[in-house]
Amino acid sequence: MARYESVLESIGGTPLIRLTRVAEGLLPRIYVKPEWQNPGGSVKDRAALAMLRRAEADGSLRPGGTVVEVTSGNTGIGLAIAAAHLGYRAVIFTSSVIAQEKRDQLAAYGAELRLVDAFVPRAHPDSLPSQGERYAAETPGAWLAQQYDNPANPAAHYASTGPEIWDDTDGAVTHFVATVGTGGTISGTGRYLKEVSGGRVRVIGADPITSKYSGGDGSQKYIEGAGHFVHPETTLDEWPRALDLDVIDDYVPVEDQRAIDAIRGLARTEGILAGGSSGVALAAAFQIAGRLTADDTVVVLLPDSGRTYLSTYYNDSWLAAGGFTAPGSPARAEGPAVGDYATATPLVERDESVAEAVRRLAADGVADDDAVLVAHPRAGRVLAPHPSDIVGWTTPARLRGAAAVAETVRPVGPRLGIGLALTDPAVTAWDGTEGALALVLDRGRVTGTVTWRALHREPVHALPEQAV
Ligand SMILES: Cc1ncc(COP(=O)(O)O)c(C=O)c1O
Repeated sequence: MARYESVLESIGGTPLIRLTRVAEGLLPRIYVKPEWQNPGGSVKDRAALAMLRRAEADGSLRPGGTVVEVTSGNTGIGLAIAAAHLGYRAVIFTSSVIAQEKRDQLAAYGAELRLVDAFVPRAHPDSLPSQGERYAAETPGAWLAQQYDNPANPAAHYASTGPEIWDDTDGAVTHFVATVGTGGTISGTGRYLKEVSGGRVRVIGADPITSKYSGGDGSQKYIEGAGHFVHPETTLDEWPRALDLDVIDDYVPVEDQRAIDAIRGLARTEGILAGGSSGVALAAAFQIAGRLTADDTVVVLLPDSGRTYLSTYYNDSWLAAGGFTAPGSPARAEGPAVGDYATATPLVERDESVAEAVRRLAADGVADDDAVLVAHPRAGRVLAPHPSDIVGWTTPARLRGAAAVAETVRPVGPRLGIGLALTDPAVTAWDGTEGALALVLDRGRVTGTVTWRALHREPVHALPEQAV
């Protein structure tokens, strides 16, 4: 066992663990690297400490200073630990939808939390990055870590994660699989492994299916930390400078449901409790492993623990509310479920011309009073829309005579999972006042709607299965 003289020294040095049970039947050896064994519970401790040390060295962070960062949580936790230990103040800007467990952890280390609505275009003064940048510029002694563009982020992985994997596999690693958020992990680790192996190691980017990195439409996903989401009104989509695209040989796109299945299976079959982005990496690794041989050794980086997501991916009620399924649990409640009362609902885009929308809906046989969803435009949709892409609802009758689609939009009610029982509290809490129409979610995507009135009638149609 190792001995450390401070918590900061204990960052890094995580083990490799061979998967035996879930990898049964696959030819290559598959090892996972559980990064939750870092003191802050995630891979981001490495980058956080490296960025902070570099800022101290170049004078941008001085004694008594304030550490500021915009983060989905884990980098903030790493910075909060280092700040607590070294006597800095920490102010963390994060999305109001991150897991409660991460918020609580940040608060426990004494960091000040600023919760911001993340669904705002990048250039808007209220966007998450804009607010963090403004705060840092206006606060004397503040240093903004900027993990997305900070070269110390990938450098931390080049210096530690890469060499650890090489040494612990005795140079036998042939494939490295990781998710891509800022790109720091995959770029630094991947570059080291490629250099040390003379280019032999293949580096695989495991990516949520709608993420821009692997060619998705940029719409939101449910897995925190991995992938690249773009607000539909963002005109200039800048990618992180921490991401070195040359290092990634292939991408494997992974749906949220597959990632959730992978981690829930890992917990129950292997006894390893991993977070959501770990599920993206695992699902990708299992996919590529099917094509590999007994001479291959795959290393899968697991960024954080499932303990952070007990209220989400491991919570059956959370899954049901999003229309996800849980292995071992029925996809639908017994008895009447929301999906039995829902109808598939056509979509118009907010910037579509009214004349074109009316013509198209009439050609598709949509009746004058039928509900039509209004969505933010998304070129090349890969799946049904994410609920954050739905602006509201309208009808052909309202559209006719309006100058713009946006003029006709009515607010929608709650989001209801397709398999929720009519007796579920999420359903019974809806009294129709919030909006007469709710979005129906199948595996997290909007595949239809249900009216408040229909929920009080007999079933009419069943929604078709979502095509993937
Ligand atoms: C849970 C989780 N997974 C994956 C990542 C992606 O790691 P990286 O930013 O090094 O690409 C992050 C980054 O914040 C994360 O928090």
